[in-house]
Amino acid sequence: MNRYPVSSAIAQGNGYTIVENASLEGRNTFRVPARAHLLIDVKKPEALGEVLGFPYLKNSPVLVLGEGSNVLFTRDWPHVVLSMSSQGIAVESDEGDACRVRVAAGENWNAFVHWSLARGFAGLENLVLIPGSVGAAPIQNIGAYGVEVCEFIESVSAWDRHGGQPVELDLADCRFTYRDSVFKQEADRYIVTSVEFRLPRARDPRIGYAGIAEELKALGFCEPTHAQVAEAIARVRTRKLPNPALIGNAGSFFKNPLVGSAKGADLRQRHPDLPCWPTSDGQLKLSAAWLIESCGFKGLRRRHAGVSEHHALVLVNLGGASGAEIWNLAEEIRDTVHARYQVMLEPEPRIL
Ligand code: FAD
Ligand code: EPU
Repeated sequence: MNRYPVSSAIAQGNGYTIVENASLEGRNTFRVPARAHLLIDVKKPEALGEVLGFPYLKNSPVLVLGEGSNVLFTRDWPHVVLSMSSQGIAVESDEGDACRVRVAAGENWNAFVHWSLARGFAGLENLVLIPGSVGAAPIQNIGAYGVEVCEFIESVSAWDRHGGQPVELDLADCRFTYRDSVFKQEADRYIVTSVEFRLPRARDPRIGYAGIAEELKALGFCEPTHAQVAEAIARVRTRKLPNPALIGNAGSFFKNPLVGSAKGADLRQRHPDLPCWPTSDGQLKLSAAWLIESCGFKGLRRRHAGVSEHHALVLVNLGGASGAEIWNLAEEIRDTVHARYQVMLEPEPRIL
């Protein structure tokens, strides 16, 4: 792992800091060891022009890293890691029934959700407790409990590495779909600097996702406020998903696979318990967790890597695992599911 000298040289400019030979172990929620040749922490988006103009960076791959909750390092990163740590939440305009709010990329997502609820805005409650930064939220169009973040995004401000300038992408430019966007399709072309949200003041709570109405009832919330929906969702999430502060993981390791209607109908006929949901474009979204559990992987341990005993879609670092070890287990799961169901699972985290 340690291909670089152990010492770290530090340089500082106006709005950025550069660390050489930086450890990334505390910067990924799998907690696997990895090092970056250079780690550049950018506090002011205005500094990006200067930083990206350094001759070394012009031709070097640049990995943009947020809070590392959706990445798996299988080896050291022998290039530049760029972290956007800019802060700030600003109300840009108030339209009465909604506000436009600009949030800097380095803000924490869950803190922003609570900021919005505390000010009486509605909508983000279903996305409570998703780890990570605001700048990463558009990358895979984060979603949970029947809501996707694209429903609230007006525009995304970014630095375009192709054009060498700041750009603003509107909703259509972002090409959001399930766990996908232009930012993922053209990885590292855009460095997100801030996101503009349109937050409504009123909206019917969306509580149709399995288990949420029951949780609200158990809490005694008959006509729940948005903050109460957030509380119910946080409780469900805490029961289902391992806390990365206690056990390394990146949430769902695979996306729920989408299949065509004929293939979906065939699978449903042979496996009537397989949970699946129709999509607006006529496909069927299958439960990856069910496919994995049915192959016997839930709770399985392979040396230091394993599958959570609470959720079959979550791979975990049982302590001391390398990224390669976790990736080997992921490949075994993917290949076993494919051999049994002819469905190819795709990883959700970025594999490096
Ligand atoms: P990182 O992991 O650092 O990066 C993820 C990707 O975004 C990388 O490709 C990176 O290059 C890119 N990126 C990051 N910041 C920027 C930027 N400023 N500009 C350009 N590219 C950037 N996700 C969901 O959608 N729904 C869930 O319910 C959910 N639950 C989770 C539960 C747990 C316990 C965990 C650990 C993860 C979960 N996730 C979930 C995944 C993760 O929280 C999200 O993908 C989150 O948006 C990642 O944010 P991050 O800052 O950690 O990004
Ligand atoms: N299931 C199993 N075995 C399990 C767990 C679940 O068979 O061990 C089945 C159950 O039938 C359950 C169904 O899978 O009803 C769906 O489970 P769950 O509600 O936990 O949702 P998921 O499809 O596994 C997705 C997202 C999560 C998001 C939840 C809630 C993906 C890849 N994952 O999980 O996002 O929080 O829905 O909306 O879409 C993430 O992206 O990292 C993530 C955690």
